[in-house]
Amino acid sequence: MPLTSSFPPITKMPLTQKHPCTLLSIFTLFILASYTFIHHPHPPNSTTTLFLSSANNATIAAYLRRLTLHPHLAGTPQAFQTALYVKNHFQTLQLSTHMTNYTTLLSYPIHSSLSGVYRNGTFALFNEYIKNDVVLPYHAYSPSGRVYSKAVFLNYGRKEDYKKLSVLGVEVKGCIGLVRRGGGMSRNAVVEMAADNGVAAVLMYTEGNIGVERGTVMKGVGDPLSPGWGAVEGGEKLELDDEQVLERFTKVPSMPVSVEVAQTILRSLGGCVVPFEWRESLRSFGVGFVGPGPTVLNFTYEGEMKVATIHNVFAVIPGSEEPDRYVLLGNHRDAWTYGAVDPNSGTAALLDIARRYALLKRSGWNPRRTIVLCSWDAEEFGMIGSSEWVEQNLVNLDSKAVAYLNVDCAAQGPGFFVGATPQLDDLVRQITKKVKDPDSESTRAYENWKSAKKDGKIQRLSGVDSDFAPFLQHAGVPSVDMYYGGEFPVYHTAFDSYDWMIRVGDPLFHRHVAVTGVWGLLALRLADDPILPFNYSTYAEELQVYASTMSNLLGNEISLRSIFVAIEDLICAAKQMQEEIKELERHETSDGVSLLKRRMLNDRLMLTERGFLDPMGLQGRKWFKHLIYGPHNNIETRLDFFPGLVDAISRAAKLDSRERKAVIEHEVWRIARAIQRASSALRGGLS
Ligand SMILES: *[C@@H]1O[C@H](CO)[C@@H](O)[C@H](O)[C@H]1NC(C)=O
Ligand SMILES: *[C@@H]1O[C@H](CO)[C@@H](O)[C@H](O)[C@H]1NC(C)=O
Ligand SMILES: *[C@@H]1O[C@H](CO)[C@@H](O)[C@H](O)[C@H]1NC(C)=O
Ligand SMILES: *[C@@H]1O[C@H](CO)[C@@H](O)[C@H](O)[C@H]1NC(C)=O
Ligand SMILES: *[C@@H]1O[C@H](CO)[C@@H](O)[C@H](O)[C@H]1NC(C)=O
Repeated sequence: MPLTSSFPPITKMPLTQKHPCTLLSIFTLFILASYTFIHHPHPPNSTTTLFLSSANNATIAAYLRRLTLHPHLAGTPQAFQTALYVKNHFQTLQLSTHMTNYTTLLSYPIHSSLSGVYRNGTFALFNEYIKNDVVLPYHAYSPSGRVYSKAVFLNYGRKEDYKKLSVLGVEVKGCIGLVRRGGGMSRNAVVEMAADNGVAAVLMYTEGNIGVERGTVMKGVGDPLSPGWGAVEGGEKLELDDEQVLERFTKVPSMPVSVEVAQTILRSLGGCVVPFEWRESLRSFGVGFVGPGPTVLNFTYEGEMKVATIHNVFAVIPGSEEPDRYVLLGNHRDAWTYGAVDPNSGTAALLDIARRYALLKRSGWNPRRTIVLCSWDAEEFGMIGSSEWVEQNLVNLDSKAVAYLNVDCAAQGPGFFVGATPQLDDLVRQITKKVKDPDSESTRAYENWKSAKKDGKIQRLSGVDSDFAPFLQHAGVPSVDMYYGGEFPVYHTAFDSYDWMIRVGDPLFHRHVAVTGVWGLLALRLADDPILPFNYSTYAEELQVYASTMSNLLGNEISLRSIFVAIEDLICAAKQMQEEIKELERHETSDGVSLLKRRMLNDRLMLTERGFLDPMGLQGRKWFKHLIYGPHNNIETRLDFFPGLVDAISRAAKLDSRERKAVIEHEVWRIARAIQRASSALRGGLS
């Protein structure tokens, strides 16, 4: 069944009628035909064409210019100005617009200083030349503190790095650790591990960066004072010294530093020679030693935590036939500095999609399902704006959200990257075949993506690094995340400006245009297709790969039979669903019965992903409910699925073999049951 099929052509309809045409059925047909005509003056193809032809790099550039005039860190007056700008843009387009505020705990720096005490004297280490109102380089939610101690180099700060240092006899306790980013761990995890190893403070730098990478070191997502519920003004808030709040914060102070500062420190170290395995990517430093000392660092960080108001902005395009089904497009608006790449390239794309949807509306189009454009605040602090909103709207999202399509940084360089839950893989590929490639003449985005190193690979959304996390990992909403470009050197620095965008990131805004194309068309299909374009066979096949990988990893000791059995069942359910869809399309009749049947099939397709949620959540992170995709602690495995099982395997390593088996088997059973729940949602019947 081609997923593009929508309304059966009106002229062919009598052929699909099973019964001889009675006067009555002719009459009904007439009604349906006119109904279809009235409600769909736009056949889907013309909607696509009109959407694509309304692309405009100049409007996107103008939006980005405007959004990035000033730094707009969440909770500041400049951030509120960007909220008003977005709201005003939506309103000018005559879209139904509203703002949702939350009062949440944010964190700002007051003062920091760093100096090196060498044999020849004490010298200040200047971190970054700060222009006017750009915030100091800092780690949000780092505790304040002053540490005067020897410096030691910790490489990426992974478990294996501490093992190596310990083998070499390097004592890190009480030292100030210098860590390079890039070992696959979050900032928070790096600092926590350092603290666990007795390190007194952490300095982080990012090789290849121009400027200093700010970031959050808060654990988990959402407002720390309202864990699990929306942080509405006047609502319940935990006290700052509540244990649940304190466990979200790191225990030792940390701060990001520039590559230059890191180099100066590294070059002054003595002690043990840098281990061979670490050297390769450090070559440019000409480094010899890891310390500790003889250099002593005098490091001070003073910050404050403040309850501040944040603002999410929404534009809603009501569905004409299923207004109670939601297709959500989201991007955050708050930035560490000017945010030209992160995140306002995505905001500019969102604003342009609004402009183009408004154009479609003026030409008579209305989506079948409701489309919601979401502009989030305070993502940089830990997905706060989106998480609070998801928590506050959980019941309605659970019963009515079809999909969430995220774009954070839209354009940061060449090359298309996309992550998705697997039932959306087919749709993503189809759409990228319709959108022009931004970096070559007369090819489609798909062709370049397919031929690139990534080979058209779709990533999975286990990371907790943008606003899809609450939607997928907490609420079980099928999700997509996409961007152009890999790592970029101004990430979270004062140089992430409009100027960098037009010099390096996307000089002609063609990559922005490509992202708006894919993003906007994905939403159009999800909003307009009569049957949701979800393929659960793809999901089941992906799960099979995960189960086989795990099975190989675990060997004979643990059986994954229950998971394999559940997947088989999901495969059958997915096939059966395809049959039912075909059947429905073959016998589509003109009465309300078909509409209702279609609605029932769509509900099953929509709710299947929710089956992967487990109300108990992941062990030790109960907010994360999704058992297929979510965060885990074991970065060495590099697995981006079955987070609970991955964690159980590392946890169990310390146990005796009987306990070990029990711990792992429990997680295996939980996954099997999750898949079973998904497949019974897809079947749609009771046991
Ligand atoms: C949100 O906050 C802004 C700024 O304080 C205020 O103007 C606006 O009325 C608030 N909106 C709602 C819905 O409370
Ligand atoms: C002092 O020593 C440090 C570390 O060895 C070195 O980087 C710096 O250039 C020296 N400064 C002066 C003024 O000699
Ligand atoms: C460390 O730096 C702080 C702030 O600059 C300064 O007040 C303090 O005296 C210094 N401590 C030592 C031991 O040099
Ligand atoms: C838009 O694209 C055209 C064609 O490549 C280019 O000439 C123009 O400079 C671009 N506009 C902006 C604002 O980058
Ligand atoms: C769904 O995916 C499966 C497996 O990837 C594929 O064989 C099948 O053709 C797809 N179904 C549809 C309707 O596209």
